[in-house]
Amino acid sequence: MKKTDYDVKDFNLAETGRQRIEWASREMPVVKQIRERFSREKPFEGIRISGCLHITTETANLALALKDGGAQLVLCASNPLSTQDDVAAALVAYDISTYAIKAEDDKTYYKHIIAALDHKPNLTVDDGADLVTTLHTKREDIIRQVIAGTEETTTGVTRLRSMARAGKLQYPIIAVNDAKTKYLFDNRYGTGQSTLDGITRATNVLWAGKKVVICGYGWCGHGLAMRAKGFGAQVIVVEVDPVRALEAAMDGFQIMPLLAASKIGDIFITVTGDKNVIDRKHIEVMKSGAILANSGHFNVEINIPAMEELTKSKRRIREFVDEYSLKDGRRLFLLGEGRLINLAAGEGHPASVMDMSFADQALSLEYLVQNHNKLEREVYPVPENIDADVARLKLESMHISIDKLTREQKKYLTSWQEGT
Ligand SMILES: NC(=O)c1ccc[n+]([C@@H]2O[C@H](COP(=O)([O-])OP(=O)(O)OC[C@H]3O[C@@H](n4cnc5c(N)ncnc54)[C@H](O)[C@@H]3O)[C@@H](O)[C@H]2O)c1
Repeated sequence: MKKTDYDVKDFNLAETGRQRIEWASREMPVVKQIRERFSREKPFEGIRISGCLHITTETANLALALKDGGAQLVLCASNPLSTQDDVAAALVAYDISTYAIKAEDDKTYYKHIIAALDHKPNLTVDDGADLVTTLHTKREDIIRQVIAGTEETTTGVTRLRSMARAGKLQYPIIAVNDAKTKYLFDNRYGTGQSTLDGITRATNVLWAGKKVVICGYGWCGHGLAMRAKGFGAQVIVVEVDPVRALEAAMDGFQIMPLLAASKIGDIFITVTGDKNVIDRKHIEVMKSGAILANSGHFNVEINIPAMEELTKSKRRIREFVDEYSLKDGRRLFLLGEGRLINLAAGEGHPASVMDMSFADQALSLEYLVQNHNKLEREVYPVPENIDADVARLKLESMHISIDKLTREQKKYLTSWQEGT
């Protein structure tokens, strides 16, 4: 590989990365099985794939499965702060062109996306839709050869649906996020655990007794609230959706508007996929010492420019903690520059949960190679049989067996004649 075919922080980190990738693979039995089959069947022979994903040990395992399946693969980061530099180096050592450096600035981030697009992909694998939107706005010249793509996260799916509605989407995309074997586990248990882990690593804070305000009770919010409660925190949920607020209330959490919660919260975590959720008016009334973190996809959930305007001085007090000394004398602490804290300060989701998300990715990509001709320029769900297969394989790997419907039950469940 030529030196221009990659951009990583330090190639010498490759061996550490390789060992960590191997460690993660122990918890990814479903992806491993798929990788073994792909190695035999080569479903991606002659196919060029550009992937914009968090460059983590789990992503590396997906990448190796696709490569063994015959794909020519190039990767770039889907977030400036989520790259694991040793993994990026190891991927290059595995002959996968990778463009990702932890803490790259926005200019480099987009330069890396363009580099991934220069690969002239037939398939795109995106996480947040920056690759796809860049392709549609800056590299329209190569769009015709793209046959299909996948999208990993809620925010990306939201953006792509808007593109499809506006008639702008140029090829079919599968919303991997919306598979049950993805959001029920990755968004809930993955984000729940890894976000608290990221905040703990960044701050070493004790959760017990803290008032933790969680903005957004979607699948990520469910996991966060559950795990924060398990740590002994007093959890307050903030929502705009009445059904989800009701659910949070019946799950045993306190619900209130963010303005009220702002006055009492110790730790604030946003997981909404929305913008300026924590806004100036909230920052203005927060207690001195409050900690603010985001685990939603983009760094727009906390209004950082407004926080800067209220600030007299700022210093980095720990690696992922910025202390904002406000003009009125209060001090607030922003973690990981408002970027998804589980990946900025932690290692992201545990491999076991990414095993399912990336099995969905791998199988959806294989499905797209076989079926793209039948699909329109729309956002599609993961085929149900893939979802069920991934769950079945995961259960098998956990040595859990379940019952089967009897013939009588199958008939009963598909008929209407029989009542009491
Ligand atoms: N950190 C990670 O590793 C990780 C993993 C998965 C998803 N994500 C991201 O996390 C975000 C949330 O994902 P999700 O799957 O939980 O989404 P979701 O759509 O299931 O839930 C989001 C919730 O936020 C609520 N919300 C929206 N605006 C709000 C506001 N102003 N105030 C309060 N609540 C508001 C919505 O009503 C909804 O219930 C997305 O950006 C997604 O891409 C991050």
